[in-house]
Amino acid sequence: MSNYHIKHLEEYYQVYRKSVRNPEAFWDEVAEEHFVWRKHWEKVLSYDFSKPDFKWFEGAKLNITENCIDRHLLTKGNETAIIFEPNNPDEVALHISYQELSNRVNKMANVLKSQGIRKGDRVCIYLPMIPELAVSVLACARIGAIHSVVFAGFSATALATRINDSDCKMVITSDGSYRGNKTIDLKGIVDDALRSCASVLSVLVAKRVHSKIPMIDGRDHWMQPLLDQASAKCDPEIMDAEDPLFILYTSGSTGKPKGMVHTTAGYMVYTAYTFKNVFQYKTGDIYWCTADIGWITGHSYIVYGPLANGATTVMFEGVPSYPDFGRFWQIVEKHKINQFYTAPTAIRALAKENIDFVNNYDLNSLKVLGSVGEPINEEAWHWYNENVGKRQCPIVDTWWQTETGGIMISPIPGSTPTIPTYATLPLPGIQPVLMGANGDELYENQVEGSLCIKFPWPSIARTIWGNHDRYRETYFAAYSGMYFTGDGATRDAVGNYRITGRIDDVIIVSGHNLGTAPIEDAVNEHPAVAESAIVGFPHDIKGNALYGYITLKEKGESLLQDNLRKEINQLIADRIGPIAKLDKVQFTNGLPKTRSGKIMRRILRKVACNELDNLGDTSTLLNPECVKHIIEGRL
Ligand code: WT7
Repeated sequence: MSNYHIKHLEEYYQVYRKSVRNPEAFWDEVAEEHFVWRKHWEKVLSYDFSKPDFKWFEGAKLNITENCIDRHLLTKGNETAIIFEPNNPDEVALHISYQELSNRVNKMANVLKSQGIRKGDRVCIYLPMIPELAVSVLACARIGAIHSVVFAGFSATALATRINDSDCKMVITSDGSYRGNKTIDLKGIVDDALRSCASVLSVLVAKRVHSKIPMIDGRDHWMQPLLDQASAKCDPEIMDAEDPLFILYTSGSTGKPKGMVHTTAGYMVYTAYTFKNVFQYKTGDIYWCTADIGWITGHSYIVYGPLANGATTVMFEGVPSYPDFGRFWQIVEKHKINQFYTAPTAIRALAKENIDFVNNYDLNSLKVLGSVGEPINEEAWHWYNENVGKRQCPIVDTWWQTETGGIMISPIPGSTPTIPTYATLPLPGIQPVLMGANGDELYENQVEGSLCIKFPWPSIARTIWGNHDRYRETYFAAYSGMYFTGDGATRDAVGNYRITGRIDDVIIVSGHNLGTAPIEDAVNEHPAVAESAIVGFPHDIKGNALYGYITLKEKGESLLQDNLRKEINQLIADRIGPIAKLDKVQFTNGLPKTRSGKIMRRILRKVACNELDNLGDTSTLLNPECVKHIIEGRL
């Protein structure tokens, strides 16, 4: 039996049982056998949910870049670590070997040092998806600086808030970035942000678009000349297991963004372990996650998890629609991708387009397909399975969060079954529970409740930067002795989990709890529907009623729309029950999305409730323009 690599169902159950009966022995073995340490730990785990306080592999010393880079050099120095696929398909892709990655990371680490960055300092990285992004992340880790990557689509205000929250000493950015046919002036955004950031002493600037940009004397430095002078040898800083590795901001339902802090050893062990099992990565495979490294998905499953396994990981600079909607599939064919990991919102967007965009390419190399970020609706799941996977590739619907650091609930291809719309079974070491309305654990199956995790796992976030109270209140106060995820879920007769969505998206209509996700699934089954979002609004008799925002594949006549409303409600009545019918249906030409592709239900809820004067900050949306249309068309 291998604890590290699960290969069949029986093994899953054996390993899972072991991981729950004796978590310390289980993780001790995984950590011992698959990583390099400078000093062994004294204790695998100590924890206290009430403080809350979690320590994994306490006393151990290591550097995560030795695990992600150095230890592979002897055996696979010439093999590809990172494939960089540029925005423009006519520009050549780069294949960066482990040896070259090592040289680049060491040089960058020396540059950071020469700029006065030391262990524990915070470095903000605001870069597009170019190799310098992965290299900067790893260079920080090499010298023990704490990286705080901010997605390079955020505004100057959002960037400044994040820089100030963690007092970053340095910003790493580029002159500009390419996204589809647009060129974005990134350095200009940094300049704007830094007008209100006193902590930043220096800015490193990579050249990407070769635009003429102002450089501030004494503060701004071109990256390349410094790299050219730097040595390709930088001894790794020897870190404690619980030293912070990075801060990553995630937006809360209220208040300013939360800087989730992840620490070194547990994060490394858990992301490497889950990468191996969820994607069934084998030597020589080419793995592609389409996320941006600005999100946790990119941290854990583009950079750390794959590299810790010596994998080949793809970084894509562009967007799925450029130069046309076939771009993803063109890249799959070009690089012979074996594992492909993307988000439901991308799948739905591509499913709307002509199927020839998929069928024009040879997708035979694919073995595993992944989904992450929100519940994947049934229609999108089947489209993905049939058209991309040709019914040959298990779909791993991976449920997790910025706070969890790694994938928590997911099928394991070849071992555990996949079920449309179900994240299915917990990974080894993960002990999910469902909590009922009265605050008690629901032990039986075929129940619905709020999803909590009742035992620590190695990559749980350790705190919110500078605000441990908020950390406790947000995640550990709702139910004592466990971590509260904020999500609702159901458990079927044999223990599979289906995530129904954020708890705050549950709407009580006439005393019935209705999750928005299953209703949206039903609506999306209608052939004319591209995407939908359902929110609640106050209703005299029912308490709440349902308001549906629906984007159609094609714009229709208003007569047709009346018929559509009836057909959609009939579908809902058929799938869920008449109780879930929509009182109001507004046809929209788009739904407001966060940069990571999540529908901003908060805004939709406000519009539905006619609370228009307090919509909050819409500037960080992917598509702020659609809010105006939605307000104008409200019912
Ligand atoms: C929230 C976390 C995990 C990296 C990307 C998002 C939702 C995520 C799934 C899934 C249903 C999912 C949850 C979760 N979510 N994956 N497979 N099925 N819901 O990270 O921005 O921290 O968001 O995304 O609601 O709580 P995040």
